[in-house]
Amino acid sequence: MKIRARFGAVISGCLLTLGAAQAETGSDIYTANCAQCHGKQREGGLGPSLADNVWLNGEPTKANFTKIISKGLVAKGMPAWEGLLTKAQIDQLSEFLLTKPTAAAEAPAADDIANIRVPKGFQISVYAEGVETARSLVVDSNDVVYVGSRKAGKVYALVDANKDGKADKVITVAEGLDSPIGVTLLNSSLYVAEISRVIRFDNINQTYANKPSYTVIKNDLTTDRWHGEKVIKAGPDGKLYIPIGAPCNVCDKENEAYSKIYSMNPDGSNFSVFAKGIRNSVGFTWHPLTKEMWFTDNGRDELGDNLPSCELNRAPKAGLHFGFPYCHSGVLLDPEFGKNKSCSDYVAPVANLGPHVAPLGLAFYNGNQFPAQYRNQLFVAEHGSWNRTQKIGYRVSLVTLAGNQLLTDTPFVEFLHDENVLGRPVDVAFLSDGSMLISDDSRGRVYRVTYTK
Ligand code: HEC
Repeated sequence: MKIRARFGAVISGCLLTLGAAQAETGSDIYTANCAQCHGKQREGGLGPSLADNVWLNGEPTKANFTKIISKGLVAKGMPAWEGLLTKAQIDQLSEFLLTKPTAAAEAPAADDIANIRVPKGFQISVYAEGVETARSLVVDSNDVVYVGSRKAGKVYALVDANKDGKADKVITVAEGLDSPIGVTLLNSSLYVAEISRVIRFDNINQTYANKPSYTVIKNDLTTDRWHGEKVIKAGPDGKLYIPIGAPCNVCDKENEAYSKIYSMNPDGSNFSVFAKGIRNSVGFTWHPLTKEMWFTDNGRDELGDNLPSCELNRAPKAGLHFGFPYCHSGVLLDPEFGKNKSCSDYVAPVANLGPHVAPLGLAFYNGNQFPAQYRNQLFVAEHGSWNRTQKIGYRVSLVTLAGNQLLTDTPFVEFLHDENVLGRPVDVAFLSDGSMLISDDSRGRVYRVTYTK
């Protein structure tokens, strides 16, 4: 009250706005109306991230935000708020979106890299910058790194021609794609998964710098945006694997295309179910020795801070059911969909990675640079929680195994420093020298982790 009176006295006319702002800030209006789709921290969900400084619909100006919020983008699932919110509220929201977003997307402070924690003997450095909304990684035999992206709509190639451990070029291979998060290499072609298509770039190692053309090999995937982004991986059997996530937080779509991982031939034919009962897998890989698929699955939300856990699963053969939406994390029957079901009917996870950690990409270590005990152990990129009171995840974990059993799950690279988010890891991959690459979509970076004795 005191502050108000003072301001009111000094600058008359500010009193009203200040009073209104105290009653309801742009942030309050955002939380009440927008967070359910765009995320509590604007990190995205059903709607795109509003925190990563990459915009799908025009420039980030107040006028443009006001227009988008008022009129919506109805055909794309963004409601029109005119009539539901007052003009003043929409104005406040536009201002709010112009402010610096969450820590995750702030410009990196100079000392940030020093605060990213790695184990003794390891070093972390920036391998590439300007890789907006970087997602999946794949490395070819010449160490050209292909990177998928989310909102940027691009596929990048990172090239370290002078071999100094830092990419000297970030080349845009393709642009204007629809959330092309998934990239993989097979038979000298680069495959890219968009929301509803898979496209193929042939002889990519000769063409990546010259805006190569592509062939559409599949264009009839589901078009939902919620859990609609798709990773893609070439398996050791020469087939392509791709998920279709559940288009919801929790729902029973067992009899539809959803909540499954599929396999297909490299030309898109023979599209068939490989695994079922999966909420939303954003990463899979194959064990270097057993050749079995391992994959992450993100647990449902809205059962509180500590339930259920995100999963690490193993699929040794086709046709297994991993429980969603009936049983979560191997032990927890869903309050709604679990009625008359039993968790013992489904394959339990190898490991519960923790609630809301959002495990995405994963890879077994097959290089020679890290100490011997890392060989054939598993690294998992955890993007981090968006809906938990205390932040969790934001790290690359090391999962050690004895055969197919979990031994330990410990942080390897930590991007959370005093509750400050220094990065959001999406995928891990390895260069031929055995060093590790980590993509970070919040800062548009790829990091490199090396080991020296
Ligand atoms: C029902 C879900 C939903 C709600 C609620 C919602 N949005 Fe959206 N919003 C979307 C979707 C989906 C898009 C993406 C359209 C597209 O693909 O281009 C979007 C796009 C946007 C964009 C454009 C982003 C860009 O990259 O161009 C802005 C800005 C935006 N929303 C602001 C808001 C604000 C502010 C609110 C709250 C008043 C809000 N939205 C509420 C679903 C939602």
